[in-house]
Amino acid sequence: YQRQVKTTGFPIYLDVCITARMGEIMTTRIIGTGSAVPKQVVTNDDLAKIVDTSDEWIRPRTGIRERRIAAAESGTTDLAAEAARMAIEQSGIKPEELDIIVLATSSGDCCFPNGACEVQAAVGAVNAVAFDISAACSGFVFALNTVHSFLSAGIYRTGLVIGADTLSKLVDWNDRSTCVLFGDGAGAAVVRAEGTGVIGLTMGADGTKGDVLKCGGRTTGNFLTGKKPELGYMSMDGQEVFRFAVKTVPEAIKKTLAGSGTELEEIKYFILHQSNYRISESIAKRLKLPMDKFPANLERYGNTSGASVPILLDELNREGKLKPGDKLLLAGFGAGLTWGTTLLEW
Ligand code: COA
Repeated sequence: YQRQVKTTGFPIYLDVCITARMGEIMTTRIIGTGSAVPKQVVTNDDLAKIVDTSDEWIRPRTGIRERRIAAAESGTTDLAAEAARMAIEQSGIKPEELDIIVLATSSGDCCFPNGACEVQAAVGAVNAVAFDISAACSGFVFALNTVHSFLSAGIYRTGLVIGADTLSKLVDWNDRSTCVLFGDGAGAAVVRAEGTGVIGLTMGADGTKGDVLKCGGRTTGNFLTGKKPELGYMSMDGQEVFRFAVKTVPEAIKKTLAGSGTELEEIKYFILHQSNYRISESIAKRLKLPMDKFPANLERYGNTSGASVPILLDELNREGKLKPGDKLLLAGFGAGLTWGTTLLEW
């Protein structure tokens, strides 16, 4: 594992890590997982006290019973770092061995520094480059595929992929059509270029449908406009998102499987983004597969955006439900609009 410095005639330095296996095609294996959610449980009945809603409305339409909400003093980075520590501990590596950290979040605690750098400092991964990816509920899958690209190209050897969000800070708590759906959390995976692992992926985006699920940033307030900057809230066309998910995700899954010569029946679990149980049911129906292939935990956490796929993955892992050789299909979808899959062998 050597470091090579190339220089040109200009004062530009390309500091490139090259593995000894450069040239060989490496894949990406998950060697440790972790997850973290805030302690505070908020039930549907709790929400009925602040907006005009009920457990009878929320549960049958979404499958959500309760969610976790971060305390005011706790943020996305705290949850991300906690999940990361668990994943590092399970993997058995030292934090210094990490070459790259990618955090998928659309609710970072600050504009800069990026959350991945904060995690890097928190876990002591002194040798890792660290940056965030913003792809909402597709975020973890996009981040995993990105890190896989670096690993399989032989550029880096060991990575930390995190999905973390605290959308409780972005929803309008007066808007019952969105605030009942989301919760806070983080999930992480340590990955390494070795053995078997990622064998297929698909990613897509449709920016023309950006308004379907949107959260404004700061409005342009400055001394010229005379207005104070204000934070925007999330807005969503729920039915349009529903239609997008149930059409696009099965297509992406079939494309991924076809690309790697894998049959639907070979997949042990489809680890879908946890947005709505009815969306998962519709996807299963379109693929003509039983629901026991689609593990779920959104009853307890709601939609944790970029965190939902890795939290579910970590739960399955820690429950001993994943065996070497099991084929898993991870799928994320959401704002952008964006969607992505990762097919891997455990
Ligand atoms: N409690 C009670 N009533 C509610 C409500 C709530 N939390 N939210 C909306 N309603 C009301 C609406 O005001 C509307 O009332 P009206 O008929 O008097 O106008 C009625 O319920 C139906 O609203 P509608 O938006 O048509 O409901 P729906 O059947 O489409 O279900 C969702 C709404 C959000 C559950 C559903 O569209 C959905 O799950 N979409 C996907 C959302 C998602 O997963 N987003 C994240 C993707 S990453």
